[in-house]
This record gives sequence, C-alpha cells and structure tokens, in this order.
Amino acid sequence: MLTVIKNARLVDSEIDRQGSLLLQDERIIATGSIDAFSALEAEAAVIDAQGQTLMPAFVDLHAHFRDPGLTYKEDLLTGAQAALAGGYTAVNLMANTKPVCDTSEKQAAVMQRAAALDLIDIYQAQAITVNMQGEELTDFSSSLTPLLSDDGKGIADDKLMYKALEQAAANGKILQLHEENPEFAPDITGLAEETMVARDLTLAAAAKAPVYLCHISTAKALKMVEIAKQNGVQVICEVTPHHLALADNPYKVHPPLRSAADCQALIEGIRKGTVDIIGTDHAPHSEADKAAGAPGLVGLETAFSVLYTVLVEENKISLSKLSQLLSLRGAEILNLEQGRVLPGYKANLTLVDLTVSRTIKPEKFHSKSHNTPFAGRTYRGEILWTMHNGKIKWRKETDK
Ligand code: DOR
Ligand code: ZN
Ligand code: ZN
Repeated sequence: MLTVIKNARLVDSEIDRQGSLLLQDERIIATGSIDAFSALEAEAAVIDAQGQTLMPAFVDLHAHFRDPGLTYKEDLLTGAQAALAGGYTAVNLMANTKPVCDTSEKQAAVMQRAAALDLIDIYQAQAITVNMQGEELTDFSSSLTPLLSDDGKGIADDKLMYKALEQAAANGKILQLHEENPEFAPDITGLAEETMVARDLTLAAAAKAPVYLCHISTAKALKMVEIAKQNGVQVICEVTPHHLALADNPYKVHPPLRSAADCQALIEGIRKGTVDIIGTDHAPHSEADKAAGAPGLVGLETAFSVLYTVLVEENKISLSKLSQLLSLRGAEILNLEQGRVLPGYKANLTLVDLTVSRTIKPEKFHSKSHNTPFAGRTYRGEILWTMHNGKIKWRKETDK
C-alpha cells in the first residue's frame, strides 16, 4: 500500500525543510518537495499535513510501565497509549516491576504481551542484579535486549559494579545506571549523584565498558561526564525534561529537582554535546502512593511540549537537535530502523503543531496515573498524530 504525506515541514536531526514523503507499507520509500507525489495521489492514501511539522517518532529508553504487578499505576496498554499521545513509538521499560524483571523469560513474557497490542515497539530491560537487590548479577548473556538496568536503585557494592561492567563489555550490553549512592540519599546536596557518577565513570574506564547514566541532574555530575568523554570513556548521558525545566521545585522525584544553575548547566550540556539523549523517566504512581512519598512523575505525555518550549523557544536550540535527542540517539542504541525522515527508514512518525499553546491537564492523560508537577502550566507545541509502521495509531481529538 502506498501512502503520501504531503505539505509538511520535515524535521529530523539533519533535515529541516518543506516536503512530502512517500510510504510503502511500513517504510518511507521517497522524499520530495511539498507536492512531489501528487501524480500518485489517485492510487495512494493521502495524508495532508497542512504545513505542520513532521518528525521521526520519539524513542524513550527510560520508562516505567509497572507491568506486571503494579498495574493499578500503569500497564502495557495504557503506557503504550500514553507513549503514542506523546509522539513516541518505541520505549525501553525499566525492570522494577513486581516481580522484578531479572530473567530473559520474564522479559519475553512482557514483550510477547506488548507485541500483541500492536501499538508501539516495547523493549523490556532485564535487571542488572537478581531481584534488584544489588547482591548477585543476573545472566547478561541471555538478556533479550541491549540495555540492562536496576533503575530506581543505585548499586552500592563497588566490586559488584565493576564485575557488572566487565560482564556488560564481554556480552556487548550497556548498563543503564541509576546514579544515587544510597549512603547519601535523600540527595539534597547532590552528593549521592556525584559520588556515584565519579565511581561509575572510573569503573567504566577501567572495565572498558560503555555506560548509560540515567537522569544526570547536577552541574558537577555533568562536568564529570564531560571530562570522562574527553578521556575516551564511552558514556551515554541522559537528562530528563523535568530536570531541564523545573528549578527549585519540591515535587518528589529521584534524583530531586535542582537549582536554576543546574538546569542551565544541563541546557549548556545539550548545546555542547555532553548530553546524548533525553529519557522521560515516565514514573506513574497512584494518588495514594504519591501521598505516601513515591518518587516520580508521568512523563511521556508532556515531554515534547516541555522540551520544545524550554529548549527550542526559550534557549534557541534547534528543533533538529531536539530530534536527535528524542529520536535518533535512542534508535541507534536499540538498533531500530527509525529516527530519520529518509528513504529506507520505518514510517514511525509524529506530526506536531508548533503554533499552539497547551495547558497541561493530567485528567486528560492516557496514562492511568496523573502525578505531574507540570499540571496547570502552559507550554508550546502539541502532538497531532503518531504513526507506527505506516499506520496512524493515535490522533488528537479535535474539540468541537
Ligand atoms: O523518581 C523516580 N521514580 N526515579 C526513579 O529512578 C524510579 C522511579 C519509579 O520507578 O517510580
Ligand atoms: Zn532512576
Ligand atoms: Zn526511572
């Protein structure tokens, strides 16, 4: 089946121009000027982008869907719907489910149920340690996906972390590390993050292992990442929308929201290329759990608007750079054929309206949970639809 998407502003990590796309089934097969494929319109399905901005769909390497075991907060279906509404077609799920996802059998069970939904691509990470207890490594060689993580918890034992990095290097895996040293938690001063980042960069260099550092949030931790990169350490540095956008805010999340100077340092890190990727750390919680102190926020449905406003509008970072951080890098790490608007890539795309402002209303979320510090705030940019493998899987309801 042929599909023409015409009259778009095409934006990816390199491209920013008016144009149109020709799709065959699930793939982009040609790009051209805004009406390049008008001769094919009689035989193709035609989608008129009406001048709106068409980007590769986003990839989130850091989300919590709570399935199995904590599905009163989120499940695979509502998580996938939230992802689509946020412009995402691929997510990598953290292992802090109930039970903890610490074997390839548990990964397979989640991914089989996820595939049956036929909505987005769902990757389930395997835990680094058995039951995320920080005592015994899981079997890295059998992990079905490239990333392993105990996210939610820092791994306290230095020698175990070193062994984990050696195992990761030997098996071609990447550890996604939650950088909070439990000895310093709660992390008011940043020491929990900074002591653990210092240790893990040191160990990664020694083990010659790549590392993915989750939610870097302080200027000092970022500086250490910058120096490590200069020294040849293979480090992938993640930041979240909330750590970029919210300063001096008491909303409970791990790591905590930092100072305005820290936010600015992270933004500067994006400009300089120290930051590689944006993960949402989508962390849904019920109202009762939140009231009892659960850390985290629902991230997938607000990420693009927050990032477009803070990075592109307020800090003049290009939309192409944002596309690189939201789509291309994650696709490269997971080896997905998406992340560019070029022939040969999967038609995993999202159409965004950059002219409208939107006030965040958690009661409108597709997620089962509504915990967000962004409620009531107004941001620019809205997702109009999201396409997965050539099919529009979610479309904004037009209010009439
Ligand atoms: O705030 C957070 N919530 N940080 C994490 O690392 C874990 C997450 C969760 O699972 O709720
Ligand atoms: Zn974390
Ligand atoms: Zn997380």
